Amino acid sequence: MAAEIIDGKAFAAKLRERVGTHAATFAEKAGRKAGLAVVLVGEDPASQVYVRSKGKATVAAGMESFEYRLPADTPQEELVALVRQLNADRNVDGILVQLPLPRHLDEKAVIAEIDPDKDVDGITPANAGRLVLGMDALVSCTPLGCTMILKDLIGDLSGLDAVVVGRSILFGKPMAQLLLAENCTVTMAHSRTRDLPEVLRRADIVVAAVGVPFLIKGDWLKPGAIVLDGGINRLDPEPGEEKGRIVGDVAYDEALGHVRAITPVPGGVGATTIAVLLRNTIVAAYRNEG
Ligand code: GUN
Repeated sequence: MAAEIIDGKAFAAKLRERVGTHAATFAEKAGRKAGLAVVLVGEDPASQVYVRSKGKATVAAGMESFEYRLPADTPQEELVALVRQLNADRNVDGILVQLPLPRHLDEKAVIAEIDPDKDVDGITPANAGRLVLGMDALVSCTPLGCTMILKDLIGDLSGLDAVVVGRSILFGKPMAQLLLAENCTVTMAHSRTRDLPEVLRRADIVVAAVGVPFLIKGDWLKPGAIVLDGGINRLDPEPGEEKGRIVGDVAYDEALGHVRAITPVPGGVGATTIAVLLRNTIVAAYRNEG
């Protein structure tokens, strides 16, 4: 049977529409729009593109976008002062500090300053802990989007074998917790895993987020597996190309012959992240106003 190509763009469009409705209701009730502040330190080109897209999507959903672009050499105290100012700002419901930060900054210390009630990335110690404890939490956008896609596709995930490849704070770790909460048997694989093909052989669900192009080969996948590819890797340009292609962590063309369903790159997992960010912002806005 031909593999289903999961349409992340369509999924995101539906979610954005729902968020837009909630944003309009919020604005009417609160007398102000829900607000998302995005902080970008430095000039990383990929981060600049993300931040611009986030700003546009926020406005399109009927929310207020606050953008802060700081120079690459911003001192720690200045960034912390900005986060504290945003924590105190009644018009800001969500705060996202774009990662990675320049190397001289202490990322964990900055994250710990974010008010957990405004932490739309779900990366503060409070929200990460609440997720592990099964308490109500704001949860990182990309893994939450993956969970929504999986539930939309197959409903009940109970008892399925899931392998998460990658252990970042924004993706792999929260992804594993979300799958555990859905009663999957979860294995976390990462760069030191000894035999990845062997680990993947049992996986009904594979979620990949390691940032290595085409790492996961088609014949490593269990026939009928569902694959969510969170990798966003730019290849070197081929002759005649100005920029290299964006590809995922899974050898997509090979995988098509093995899997039940797979997200393409681009247009899969990545396409949903901003929609979930808007969702988290409106959830935070209602709670903070409430
Ligand atoms: N960098 C790439 N994706 C993300 C994200 O979802 N949140 C933050 N804070 N930084 C990112």
